[in-house]
Amino acid sequence: MSIQMSMKCAAKDPAVLDPGSMLHFEFVIFGFAVADNKDLERHIRMKQATRILYFCLGFLALLNFSFVQAEDPYRYYTWTVTYGSVKVLDQPQRVILINGQFPGPNIECNTNDNVIVNVFNKLDEPFLLTWNGVKQRRTSWQDGVLGTNCPIPPNSNWTYKFQTKDQIGTFNYFPSTALHRAAGGFGGFNVIQRSVISVPYPVPEAEFTLLVGDWYKTDHKVLQQKLDQGIPLPSPDALLINGLKNGPIFTGEKGKSYKFRVSNVGISTSFNFRIQGHTMTLVEVEGAHTMQEVYESLDVHPGQSVAVLVTLHASPKDYYIVASTRFTKSVLTTTGVLRYAGSNTPPSLPLPIGPTYHIHWSIKQARTIRLNLTANAARPNPQGSFHYGGINVVRQLFLANTAAKINGKLRYAVNGISYVDPTTPLKLADWFNIPGVFTLNSIPDKPTNATPVLAPSVVGTTLHDFVEIVLINTEDTVQSWHLDGYSFYVVAYGTRDRPWTPEKRNYRYNLVDAISRHTVQVYPGAWAAILVSLDNKGMWNFRSAIWSRRYLGQQLYFRVWNNEKSLYTETDVPPNALFCGKAKNPLNA
Ligand SMILES: *[C@@H]1O[C@H](CO)[C@@H](O)[C@H](O)[C@H]1NC(C)=O
Ligand SMILES: *[C@@H]1O[C@H](CO)[C@@H](O)[C@H](O)[C@H]1NC(C)=O
Repeated sequence: MSIQMSMKCAAKDPAVLDPGSMLHFEFVIFGFAVADNKDLERHIRMKQATRILYFCLGFLALLNFSFVQAEDPYRYYTWTVTYGSVKVLDQPQRVILINGQFPGPNIECNTNDNVIVNVFNKLDEPFLLTWNGVKQRRTSWQDGVLGTNCPIPPNSNWTYKFQTKDQIGTFNYFPSTALHRAAGGFGGFNVIQRSVISVPYPVPEAEFTLLVGDWYKTDHKVLQQKLDQGIPLPSPDALLINGLKNGPIFTGEKGKSYKFRVSNVGISTSFNFRIQGHTMTLVEVEGAHTMQEVYESLDVHPGQSVAVLVTLHASPKDYYIVASTRFTKSVLTTTGVLRYAGSNTPPSLPLPIGPTYHIHWSIKQARTIRLNLTANAARPNPQGSFHYGGINVVRQLFLANTAAKINGKLRYAVNGISYVDPTTPLKLADWFNIPGVFTLNSIPDKPTNATPVLAPSVVGTTLHDFVEIVLINTEDTVQSWHLDGYSFYVVAYGTRDRPWTPEKRNYRYNLVDAISRHTVQVYPGAWAAILVSLDNKGMWNFRSAIWSRRYLGQQLYFRVWNNEKSLYTETDVPPNALFCGKAKNPLNA
């Protein structure tokens, strides 16, 4: 009986097929829970399919609720955000500290943990943190961007509450307001599998978190003023690893394997990462287990994360860890050290060389990064069981980025709309039906030749829509696009000389084992195609991970909606929600 019910529920709700969704595993448990209850069985057999569906949804909601209550641990953090002065490069400069630390503390938690972060804003400006890649299932209320949250005013605090539901992998967090991110306030966010879940690779001896990113010695407010005047940012001054220009040392023992979690926390620049004398086995990208290919070096674009295994098989000494910028006129390089325990032999020059401008090299490598279909992720069922390639696309979007002058100043636009944040978060306006904040679908589904304008752009979609998005890069620089609340399948990277055509779907798209991730690069003059199952209700930011571009309008929101109001698909507005703009007093309105 229980199997039959699962099938019925599965047929009604496509989310069941999604390995990342909460339903699948709980159906199995439900089967056990009712299998020996004869009365219940008889009762259910007499009901119609729809009744069964409602019943099992209700039951699951209860079950899920009790899981959260009984089993998933809570992790509490109290973070005080302040300015501090740190000599990052040659001069002391103003940086953003979390509990006195630059970079901020790493969050280490397990799948399904409840994470409670009480943030005290001691800056002189409103502030928000966003959780890059942590999906905030059913609760875009916690996403920490200006389209979903009122910012935390100076000298006050606000508590984020979310669950790392069904997630595993390497993520990070950073400030989403103003250009705060250029001053720090970021950290790692690592989600480790539950003890009952296996990982598809030998368990490493230990792991290291490497936050690598470009850095400016100019104060973040000065950088922001430049952008406000329509002046593009200069090239960054350095690359840092964990806030250091040179030197972080990672120590391991000969013969053992270590996991390196590497994130690009920079605001504009792609980098290549490599370790002298060692190869790296890629095991995970932004929450998905990859085919375990071996690489000498890896490109990581802004906003992206990878996890690699490195075995210490060489002669015991120190080796350079190197990150160097990609696609830049002058190449910035930073180093760390991989030390064999007990070594007192310093690393030796030359540094291992990596690619600098080589676009084709990067595209070729990107295509080798694929999903391991038989491996599990956060749940025991295989990642490949979703079969995304067989699902009908119900909506197509072609999104083209352009640089534009609006009111005489540099802006970046997507399909002719350069996004501006309204003073009322989109999510609050939507929830409380506050008019005059945004117009749904004001952004066209295809690029236009119309003169670019400023507006909040919101794409209207229906919960469970399966959407194809072709990202068209009309500019000469590498783009990096990120979607909050989701992972998407990167089915194709185009090249400059072969524009997108519908036939590309037949022979260029990987409809079998494309990687599932939250941030994708698009090469100069080229395109990339992604497929996404919109199974997470809410208001979700789709943005350039290159921060000056996002600041000047290269972003939009996806409103994922259906009219059924249910805690099962979306949580209510949180009791501690901040209100602002036209939503100052929405509960009394
Ligand atoms: C602010 O912090 C206090 C504890 O210091 C807490 O009780 C309160 O709930 C927090 N406020 C918000 C809005 O999260
Ligand atoms: C894929 O995952 C399986 C675990 O299901 C693992 O045994 C296998 O080595 C992985 N294959 C590759 C190529 O990574």
